[in-house]
Amino acid sequence: MRHLLDTTDLSLQEIDEMLSLAMDIIENKGKYSAVCSGKKLATLFFEPSTRTRLSFEAAMMELGGNVLGFSEANSSSASKGESVSDTIKIVSYYADIIAMRHPVEGAPRVASRKSEVPVINAGDGGHSHPTQTLTDLLTIFREKGRLGNLTIGLCGDLKFGRTVHSLIKAMCRYEGVKFVLISPKELSVPDYIKTDYLDEKGIEYVEVEKMEEVMPSLDILYMTRIQRERFFSEDEYLKHKDAFVLDMPKLENAKADLTIMHPLPRVNEITPDVDEDSRAKYFEQALNGKYIRMALIITLLKWAGETDED
Ligand code: NCD
Repeated sequence: MRHLLDTTDLSLQEIDEMLSLAMDIIENKGKYSAVCSGKKLATLFFEPSTRTRLSFEAAMMELGGNVLGFSEANSSSASKGESVSDTIKIVSYYADIIAMRHPVEGAPRVASRKSEVPVINAGDGGHSHPTQTLTDLLTIFREKGRLGNLTIGLCGDLKFGRTVHSLIKAMCRYEGVKFVLISPKELSVPDYIKTDYLDEKGIEYVEVEKMEEVMPSLDILYMTRIQRERFFSEDEYLKHKDAFVLDMPKLENAKADLTIMHPLPRVNEITPDVDEDSRAKYFEQALNGKYIRMALIITLLKWAGETDED
């Protein structure tokens, strides 16, 4: 049984195939409208979400399938003390595929061991968020026409930002990728990402505390929110909450074909006037999230022997 717990669960070829499938879905929507007819997706969200949960549900509906689930832990039996393992075991009797978000790192992996159906990690604490990364890869591919030979600036909360961790793990597998890590020292990328991925693969990267100085070198600027819910104290959060604000003056020296991304939700780290700039691609990115999740659902169900789509 194949699950998607981290981006590294997929080979580069499988990622390529999934991106191609997403592109085909975009170009030939009608062709896929009944591919998951009679199938059910369960979305189990123990943590808040807008885009991820709704794009998963929209994706399954557009494939002709059905959805069930809950959007907060309080409305599930977790509030009565049920373990994640028990919840998943039962839900896997009711659904053909499960997308799960949980505040505890590794919870989807534990869940996958008890599940009778494929489990998708839709975000586990500050650890990883592989379907956001697939969304990001599709966006980069559509904007740049390639996934290699790019300089990517990641800015904001690189310590707790799970989208950043997953994106680094995925992008460091492509040729000629360089990272510019822009954060306060206290919110820098965790050491294991540096040692196990960047250093291990000999990837070029720099760590800086200001975005202005590196702006001209960037092909992609990936902004992130300071992850308030992961701080140990509100004071710590308040210290960093205005660390980076991308506005039009800061883009003055940026490349004409820079791609500005953000997994969203945004708080104050990108001023609204930037939305009007043609380089801002974060809303397109959110739409790509639906298409890549359609491709992911089709692929995992096919691997599980549940559909005959190929
Ligand atoms: C991200 C997440 O949940 O990690 N949101 C998303 O899924 N698009 C980013 C965030 O919450 O800051």
